[in-house]
Amino acid sequence: MNGETPKSHAARAALDYVKDNMVLGLGSGSTAEIFLELLGLRIASGLKVQGIPTSKRTAEVAEEAGIELLSIEHADRIDLTVDGADEIGPKFALIKGGGGCLLREKIIANASDLMVVIADESKLVETMGAFALPVEVDRFGFSITAKKVFDVLKQDGTSRPDVVLREDKNSGKPFITDGGHYILDCACGEITHPVKTAAQLCAVPGVVEHGLFIDMARVVIIGGDHGAEILER
Ligand code: A5P
Repeated sequence: MNGETPKSHAARAALDYVKDNMVLGLGSGSTAEIFLELLGLRIASGLKVQGIPTSKRTAEVAEEAGIELLSIEHADRIDLTVDGADEIGPKFALIKGGGGCLLREKIIANASDLMVVIADESKLVETMGAFALPVEVDRFGFSITAKKVFDVLKQDGTSRPDVVLREDKNSGKPFITDGGHYILDCACGEITHPVKTAAQLCAVPGVVEHGLFIDMARVVIIGGDHGAEILER
């Protein structure tokens, strides 16, 4: 790697959690991709692991890095998932899904014995919601689902949530997730009760998954200019 960055400091520190013969959940996003690159170097030096990717893009990057992939259907366990985050709030509640991979990321994180989050310090927040919350929805009836999502967020204290269908930056068409769904980006300003909001979003028909990851991360590694700080709970 050419020079260390806050993200690479965090990614490098996460390697300490990886042991021989582990099955790893491989996260998505720029920080997770640095981890994949570093993991590939360890594999080239003899480390033996298998990885389950959280997105098609991650599968490609992992294969290029020389990481053996395992289909989730063939995994009887996932020892460790290392993934990034868009926000890290109190009690390690997370917002994820900026890259649109939240559904697979959540399935894999939830099935893992340990989730380690890697991020630079800009992701640490006291109150969640400055980052627009991604909500993955079925394409059928998505505009009705969007109205119901708006109602949930308004009831939960957001004065005027802004719920926007995510567009593909290149085509201008709606962004389609790896699972074939749409994403609603929900600008809230503040999410003061993430546990309650998470439960209410799950109850909306048409919502496939939301980007609030509650009680999943046990370790958060925050990279800075000169190294990484490890926070555990
Ligand atoms: C992908 O859907 C996201 O959950 C990413 O993990 C998140 O957006 C963090 O990405 P960066 O590491 O690129 O900031």
